[in-house]
Amino acid sequence: QLGLKTKTFGHFVHFVEEVDSTQKIALRLAYDGAKEGTLVIAEQQTAGRGRMDRKWFSPKGTGIWMSLILRPPIPPQKAPQLTLLTAVAVCQAIQQVTGLVPDIKWPNDILLNGKKCVGILTELQADPDRVHSVIIGIGVNVNQTIEQFPEDIRTVATSLAMEKGERIKRAHLVQEILLQLERLYHQYLQHGFRPIKLLWEGYAVSIGKKITAHTLNGSIKGTALGITDEGLLMLEDEDKHIHYIHSADIQL
Ligand code: BTN
Repeated sequence: QLGLKTKTFGHFVHFVEEVDSTQKIALRLAYDGAKEGTLVIAEQQTAGRGRMDRKWFSPKGTGIWMSLILRPPIPPQKAPQLTLLTAVAVCQAIQQVTGLVPDIKWPNDILLNGKKCVGILTELQADPDRVHSVIIGIGVNVNQTIEQFPEDIRTVATSLAMEKGERIKRAHLVQEILLQLERLYHQYLQHGFRPIKLLWEGYAVSIGKKITAHTLNGSIKGTALGITDEGLLMLEDEDKHIHYIHSADIQL
């Protein structure tokens, strides 16, 4: 019913009406041996998970809440590259379907007019030298109106429909996201991260700017120089010391 145009992504689909988190189901399926390209998608999540132990608000029928299982032949250090790849794929899909041009805030927030409309969460099952599976969780605010967001996030969140001024067909966007993801993923497996990194930099808003990175171990102020080939953020502080950041919230 999704009308997919992909070769393998989304060819096994677990569609669920209501679930705590598609991420949790996908992790379980991956553990049980599900094939690459298996997709879990829900109408509603009761306990959607965000980055850094936060919640992701996922009300019924308004957004895309999905998790995709990948099995890339890469070591775990390279997994952050897939987060960045996903952000590029989702930006391309949004552009294709709505004509809107999103920005990326490192590592994986997608913004329209400075407000977040997409969150991406990647989780791994891996040995020290080999990834078994990567679960790519994608949450897209598609058709929410402002009243449908919790009050405390109304100034920082938006939906595609709010920005575009009209409702958007979710199935169409799912098709396009999977298509772009599959295309970039194959490009990545063949040619490595370089070409993806260039695309990513084209959408990135934080590079070259003064930012504050809030990490779990405290905050660092500095200039965002760019990302490394692994996908880490390079931040130069006032003493010209360069920090390599794995995970943080960026304040522009
Ligand atoms: C973020 O904090 O920005 C990441 C949010 C990721 C949300 C998606 S929705 C589908 C998948 N299932 C979850 O529980 N979380 C991810």
